[in-house]
Amino acid sequence: MRKITVAIDGPAAAGKSTVAKLIAEKKGYTYIDTGAMYRAFTWYCLKKGVDCQNEAACVALIPEVNIELKPGHIVLCNGEDVSFAIRQTDVSGNVSYIASYKDIRLALVVLQRAMAEKDSVIMDGRDIGTYVLPNADVKIYQIASVETRAVRRYEENIAKGIPCTLEEIEEDVRRRDYIDSHRDFAPLKPAPDSILLDTSYMSIQEVVDTIIMIIDRKIKELEERG
Ligand code: CDP
Repeated sequence: MRKITVAIDGPAAAGKSTVAKLIAEKKGYTYIDTGAMYRAFTWYCLKKGVDCQNEAACVALIPEVNIELKPGHIVLCNGEDVSFAIRQTDVSGNVSYIASYKDIRLALVVLQRAMAEKDSVIMDGRDIGTYVLPNADVKIYQIASVETRAVRRYEENIAKGIPCTLEEIEEDVRRRDYIDSHRDFAPLKPAPDSILLDTSYMSIQEVVDTIIMIIDRKIKELEERG
């Protein structure tokens, strides 16, 4: 079977990881959550008591951070399971600073590209279609209104037992979008060859079905081309 790479980018809490997980299951692809890697790095900086706005101090930690994504959506940082800890508001509030540091991005992108080499993958993030996998077979840029995204993340957090208010989530989403799209290196923006999908009024299943349709159409096209 042909190896397929799918890139899903878009702003915070657009539902990328929810749909990417479901598509990965359905198609038998490996799901790679690149945001979890930036979150894990942020978690480590906070654990070490390093100021996340101090680029030099954060970058200095690169040699001592080992991040692994394991089956079952488990995220390990130096062997410790941080899957739950990285979703907390202190990490969300600092992750965009960490993600704006070029040296940290370069270190994590090496891992992301290596993971995409072996199997068919669906990778979600901010710069997958533009920088990490510029030759991805399918590129989706998934958006939704800020209000919709804030409600989605609020409900997700409450279901997971992560304390938060809708107001603080909306503020976090707006602030991260601003920092992510204004950084110098590999900012959040749609790849010119991406397909824009506004999911504001779509259910999860509708988004999943739409992306699978796009993937299947691409597979057929590649097969016909030989
Ligand atoms: O799930 P959510 O949309 O809240 O974000 P995430 O995918 O977990 O990513 C968390 C943060 O990591 C983002 O706000 C970005 O600052 C950063 N990130 C990035 O810069 N590049 C990526 N490829 C993925 C995430």
